[in-house]
Amino acid sequence: MADLEVVAAPTISRSTIEREWDILSPHRAEQIRQHKDLSFWSLMVPVITELMSGADLRYVLDIGCGTGELTQLMAAKCGRILGIDLSGVAVSYAHSFLMASRNASALHSAVEDLRAVEPNPIFSAAFANMVLMDIVDLGSGLRAISQSMLGRGVFVFSITHPVHWPVYRGYDKAAWYEYDREIIIRAPFKITNQQLGVCSTHVHRPISMYLNAFAEAGFGKVHLFEPVPPKTGDPNYDLAWTSPRYLFGATTREKRPGTELNARSLKKTWNVPGFGRHHFDAGQSGSA
Ligand SMILES: C[S@@+](CC[C@H](N)C(=O)[O-])C[C@H]1O[C@@H](n2cnc3c(N)ncnc32)[C@H](O)[C@@H]1O
Repeated sequence: MADLEVVAAPTISRSTIEREWDILSPHRAEQIRQHKDLSFWSLMVPVITELMSGADLRYVLDIGCGTGELTQLMAAKCGRILGIDLSGVAVSYAHSFLMASRNASALHSAVEDLRAVEPNPIFSAAFANMVLMDIVDLGSGLRAISQSMLGRGVFVFSITHPVHWPVYRGYDKAAWYEYDREIIIRAPFKITNQQLGVCSTHVHRPISMYLNAFAEAGFGKVHLFEPVPPKTGDPNYDLAWTSPRYLFGATTREKRPGTELNARSLKKTWNVPGFGRHHFDAGQSGSA
């Protein structure tokens, strides 16, 4: 029986987070595909899509792609898209979901290990929907993303809002909570109208810590957005939105010599273990 308290944890390993998402992923696939997750459909899909719309979408990386629904939606706009996720169960859901898409695939990898997947800067844009607060070592995650991206590539993200989420989840008054500290928090995973009895871990960080980590990883100015969703017609959901629950951002990989988009440097054949051989030639597949 899972402990259904919200608690601070002294440490957490990546394999524990992987296990949590292995357990959660079948539920997430069902919640998203059955349109039970109202925030996913009314807020995350439209906002991420809009923030990505000005980006060079020739080869896009979906970091923490989960069960692949957003990857598939974005695939329609991209030359090619690769989803990566720490959870092998999530990736197997994503893989079967994406099989019909000619230009999308999913790979089991932690973001911190991106260099092993792709040692060269190759992605023209990237996004991470509700993932950065799950990454234990934010600095190494952002550096890996930055190193995998071409100069001036757009990176879009959403996270739980560091100011408002603690109030929404009711731990802002906990004795262990301090806004300006990094705190590992284990909490029951819930969406409006459904509590699963399964926990997930996220890391609370103040906004300044995110902004500094972006700058140190080689990203430029970070534009922040605090949208609230339109009314969905579900009073349980609509009335609970008293403040922005999620923080969205868009930034750009700073230009550096040798990382500008160059079709010849992108032309390559790469091998995704278990998922067959993929050929990608940015010079021929461009959508931008
Ligand atoms: C809240 S889910 C979001 C999934 C997906 N982006 C979506 O919008 O439905 C967070 C995902 O991040 C993944 N994740 C957590 N830490 C990760 C890491 N270090 N590297 C890659 N993926 C990670 C989890 O396995 C999980 O699938």
